[in-house]
Amino acid sequence: SFLILTALAAALTLTGCEGVQGNAGALAFTNPLHIPPVLDPAPGPDGVKRFGLRLQEGTAELLPGKPTSTWGINGDYLGPTLRAKRGDRVAMAVTNSLNEASTLHWHGMRLPAAMDGGPHQMIQSGQTWSPEWTVDQPAATTWYHPHPHGQTARHVYRGLAGMFLIDDDVALPRTYGTDDIPLIIQDKKFTPDGRLDEKSGGTFGILGDQILVNGTYDPFFQVTSQRVRFRVLNGSNAHVYNIGFADDRTFHVVAGDGGLLEKPVAAQRFRISPGERVEFVAGFQPGEQALLKSFEGDSDVESGDFDLIKFTAAGQLTPSPELPTKLASPTPASQPTKTRTFKLGGSNINGRDMDMTRVDEVVAAGAHEIWELNNTTFAHNFHIHEVAFRVLDIDGEAPPEYMRGPKDTVFVPGKTKVRLAVEFGRHTDPKTPYMYHCHILKHEDQGMMGQFVIVKPGTEDSTSRTLPMTG
Ligand code: C2O
Ligand code: CU
Ligand code: CU
Repeated sequence: SFLILTALAAALTLTGCEGVQGNAGALAFTNPLHIPPVLDPAPGPDGVKRFGLRLQEGTAELLPGKPTSTWGINGDYLGPTLRAKRGDRVAMAVTNSLNEASTLHWHGMRLPAAMDGGPHQMIQSGQTWSPEWTVDQPAATTWYHPHPHGQTARHVYRGLAGMFLIDDDVALPRTYGTDDIPLIIQDKKFTPDGRLDEKSGGTFGILGDQILVNGTYDPFFQVTSQRVRFRVLNGSNAHVYNIGFADDRTFHVVAGDGGLLEKPVAAQRFRISPGERVEFVAGFQPGEQALLKSFEGDSDVESGDFDLIKFTAAGQLTPSPELPTKLASPTPASQPTKTRTFKLGGSNINGRDMDMTRVDEVVAAGAHEIWELNNTTFAHNFHIHEVAFRVLDIDGEAPPEYMRGPKDTVFVPGKTKVRLAVEFGRHTDPKTPYMYHCHILKHEDQGMMGQFVIVKPGTEDSTSRTLPMTG
């Protein structure tokens, strides 16, 4: 009987391996897409919405038949989708049940620096961190993930991430899980026995050869309405994707990182780098199948040809409202008062590595500035905490139309200049910094990150450039 068991185990291993090979070629699309559960608590008598989140260890069957040790938030892998509206008061209780310290950063959220969850707000093992703020920004797909300095790549890769939706009131599909679908795209590398391979030898760190969508390997989704809104988050450590349908059908991009575009933009492809979000609405015919893919790009941080997910449309589809012709009002032209330049080196910014005790930039509350990114090396991207920015130009040329909404993260191809028009918030705190950094997580961990504080206008020069060590 031992022999039979061994043979059985060998057969199982073989099947597993074929599954592993499958992702780059023909997938079977056998697994229903996991839809992260929603956490949308009713406000308490004090009007505050209270969310409980726990960082924990888990086991998830990421590859069929192969349990993998993972980390998750309120579950084994990834976390719940949080929801709130502009004006809501939200209070978080983030408990760290891991055996090491971490943080939880609200990427895309505009809030006081002490609530931001960056490397200065460490949560020790066994502790609970309780930030609280009022949501005060346009509707958007934001997200959350750990940010412990030097450890972010590993913590995110193991599965700590989730979406935080700020709801809108325009006529877009909005039934979560039915016609409003999160797509968290992450690449992974597995060891032959099914563990997450965390070795990150190369320039960009982990570049996996397997793709998970919402933690589901080889996924399909059953479409039941004529139009579906997809909220794509690139939650990968490094890979950049060029997303579109295998049949090149046209869809409409409706939002970027920081919220809605002025109007829907017809597109067949969009590029999305780690940390960015793109929302698009696609139409389906009854009974059809459609394959969403990432197409080969031209830089070595872009994915090869990957199948992402298959959509199968039901024989009868629920009618959807027409796409609105207008989504958001145009942003008034701003008068930038200052230009700052950032030279992106191999793993540093302006020749300096991240230093937790150094304030790199001091910004006046409510300022409008130009940030000029000059990438002198290979591909990077750039994320700024707290702000909303517009991409002015990429090597002097206007960005593609789908990139013209409010953003907080932008891809910066190798040897390229990107100019941003950045609008800063009004929460001042001269002693607690926000971060800006490359969101290719290996680069961030290597020190490709800087710190800025927001202060009362007129106090920039008297603001201290050094901070006490924390964390
Ligand atoms: Cu999504 Cu500073 O990070
Ligand atoms: Cu962020
Ligand atoms: Cu980088």
